[in-house]
Amino acid sequence: MIRVVVLLSGRGSNFQAIVEATLPIEIVAVISNRPLAAGLAYAREQGLNAIALDHTAHADRAAFDAQLADEIERHQPDLVVLAGYMRILSPAFIARFEGRLLNIHPSLLPMFPGLKTHERALEEGVKIHGCTVHFVTAQLDHGPIVIQAAVPVRADDTPATLSARVLVQEHRIFPQAIRWFAEDRLRVQQGRVNVRGDSTSQSVLSSGA
Ligand code: GAR
Repeated sequence: MIRVVVLLSGRGSNFQAIVEATLPIEIVAVISNRPLAAGLAYAREQGLNAIALDHTAHADRAAFDAQLADEIERHQPDLVVLAGYMRILSPAFIARFEGRLLNIHPSLLPMFPGLKTHERALEEGVKIHGCTVHFVTAQLDHGPIVIQAAVPVRADDTPATLSARVLVQEHRIFPQAIRWFAEDRLRVQQGRVNVRGDSTSQSVLSSGA
C-alpha cells in the first residue's frame, strides 16, 4: 500500500470521501494549516495521525512551507493530496513533491483557476461546469489533468446549488484519481496524463445529475 499524506484547510468532505472509498492506501498523516478545521477533527475521530501546523505562527510563506515540507517528509509519503488545502504553495515546496502531489479544484480547468469558481461560472453563463484532479506544478491551478467531471448549469442555480452539485462529483473523481495513482497507472508525458488500462475513458466522467 502506498503512503499518503493529506493536506486540508477546512470542512474535509473530500478527505472523508477518500477515507470512505477504502482505497489501497495508508493515510499516514493529515495536516491542516488551520488547527480548528473540521477535517482535522474527522481525522482524529478516525484514529488517524492529525497534525495542526498553524500558518499564522510563521513569519512568511517560505518559512511555513519549509516546515510543512519537513513535516510531510517525516512521514515518507508516496503521494501528497491537497483535499481543500487553501494556501498557495511556494515553488520550493512544489519542487520537493512534484510528481507526487495531487490537487482537486472546483472547476473544469483551465477555466476558472483561483477562488470563487462557482460564482464566476455563473457570471460567465457557462452551461457546463465541474471539477478537476490534477498534478500540481509551479503554475497555480495548472498542471497535468488526471480526471475531470462535468455537471450541467441550471438556469436557477446559485453558487450554493452549483457548488453542491459539483461537490458530489469531486467525491467521485478524487478517490478515483488516488486509486489510479496507487495502482501505478498514471503516466505523465509532455504535460498529459495517460491512464494505463483506461479503455473506457473513465477520466472523462459526465453527470446528468
Ligand atoms: C472543494 O470544493 C475543493 O475543490 C476546493 O475546496 C473545497 C474543499 O471542500 N479546493 C480549492 O478550491 C483549491 N483551490 P472540502 O474541505 O469539503 O473537501
